[in-house]
Amino acid sequence: MHKHYFFVIIITTYIEKVGEKMILPNLKEAKKRTKDPVLTKQFNISNDLVLIGQGKSYYIKTYGCQMNERDSEDIKGILEHIGFKEVFDYEQADLVLLNTCSIRENANDKAFGMLGRLKHLKQQKKDLIVGLCGCMAQEEIVINQILTKYKWLNFVFGTHNIINLPYLINQNMIFNKLMIEVPSIEGNIIEGIPSKRLFNHKAFVNIIYGCDKFCTYCIVPYTRGKQRSRTKEDIIKEIKALKKLGYQEVTLLGQNVNAYGKDLYNNYNLANLLEEVSKLGIARIRFVTSHPWDFTDEMIDVIAKYDNIMPAIHLPIQSGSNRILKLMGRRYTKEDYITLFNKIKKKIARVSISTDIIVGFPTETESDFNETIDLVNTCHFDNAFTFIYSKRVGTVAFKMEDNIQEKVKEQRLQLLNKTVNKYFLQNNLKYENQIVEILVDGIDLKTKQLYGYTDTNKLVYFPGTENLIGHIIKVKITKPKTWSLEGIIQSEN
Ligand code: SAH
Ligand code: SF4
Ligand code: F3S
Repeated sequence: MHKHYFFVIIITTYIEKVGEKMILPNLKEAKKRTKDPVLTKQFNISNDLVLIGQGKSYYIKTYGCQMNERDSEDIKGILEHIGFKEVFDYEQADLVLLNTCSIRENANDKAFGMLGRLKHLKQQKKDLIVGLCGCMAQEEIVINQILTKYKWLNFVFGTHNIINLPYLINQNMIFNKLMIEVPSIEGNIIEGIPSKRLFNHKAFVNIIYGCDKFCTYCIVPYTRGKQRSRTKEDIIKEIKALKKLGYQEVTLLGQNVNAYGKDLYNNYNLANLLEEVSKLGIARIRFVTSHPWDFTDEMIDVIAKYDNIMPAIHLPIQSGSNRILKLMGRRYTKEDYITLFNKIKKKIARVSISTDIIVGFPTETESDFNETIDLVNTCHFDNAFTFIYSKRVGTVAFKMEDNIQEKVKEQRLQLLNKTVNKYFLQNNLKYENQIVEILVDGIDLKTKQLYGYTDTNKLVYFPGTENLIGHIIKVKITKPKTWSLEGIIQSEN
């Protein structure tokens, strides 16, 4: 093909219409990884946009993982910076935003279901502004659906351009037409966004964005861009500020936190960062998610050494069959995983290990699946998130023949769940009569009990009063159950 035509095709992703400019996502572009340096920008908003939300309210619905939760905190911060006030009933809002997830088809279905309800609302309330952002926005197939079936939406933006939100709202107030701005770039880093945090006592802190692992089933490297670390100075500054505000817990966040620093430093990694954060003296430090492939001995030693690094590790295995692990592009074998698992268990006292498992990956046989069950019977996980494989357009696995019947996938999931649940209970039973430290998160609306997590990330319910929220207290476990523990307060400090 002539080079010139090739460019024309790329440029067609920038469709210009009268009064509007659309930037549409492109999965081929999203797949690219170059050695180009990552651009770090400071947040700033032009003066003419600062008051556009005054007197107006917003509602935001967040789907998906902690990455999205954290982005929503930034989005809320930006909206409040320009005058909007948060409401918790979407029917009362002037602006409704869906921060979406596309990890599995049912995540997309949920957001589309909500769009259905919003369409009705918009018919009654003509001034309502509805926007969609997050990982679904980065999918070509979703944008095509929006351009045909959801043209009534006001705007769509992607995971790389959250800070354009005030501009998009303003443009929409003027033109009142669907605007799509979803660049498929490798990604940048924006510092200094004013965040509205979900909690006053625990916070997520991004340490690395994007993912370069390209597991064959996974859409994340396409929706979140290149793996890129924040500088250690920016991370430490954020955590110091949180500590000053009285925060008790930080969770260092990334799709693969073990890769931290590789793109920035020759000689500074997650182990070094954990150590430096630990010395800041914040009461609890967590980190998610760890990929087994680059979990180092140095990391294990640091976690074992410092009391304020929580002994709870999320270590997704995905499958117990080496053949399937290879097809998934996970870069480790079942044997590698078990060796790492045993090393962690041996070196870190009381550690709890949780995992993620997918059943029904293309070509998974009964015997592959049985190897997954065997692995669960070997590792006795403290917790596990289990999923039926979901085909994602654009990924390598999408082209593999999905030859397993739905019914078989469901049976496998059921058997897997029965097996993992057995070990959740078995592990929890060890807590009976133990006194554990809990950071109190809140009051459960149903049971009216307080709840919070142990250092090992076990959810505990117990009677108590609201003034304890945000405090670390001692609780005696009275009744271990499969997914949670029940207890009574032993002492309030
Ligand atoms: N970065 C993390 C996982 C993030 S996604 C890691 O690599 O461990 C969270 C989990 O969703 C994954 O661990 C995987 O179990 C599941 N998942 C991802 N893509 C999926 C798909 N296409 N179908 C089913 N489950 C999937
Ligand atoms: Fe997805 Fe694999 Fe990256 Fe995790 S490591 S986000 S599963 S591609
Ligand atoms: Fe979903 Fe995107 Fe997170 S696909 S799981 S919200 S990174």
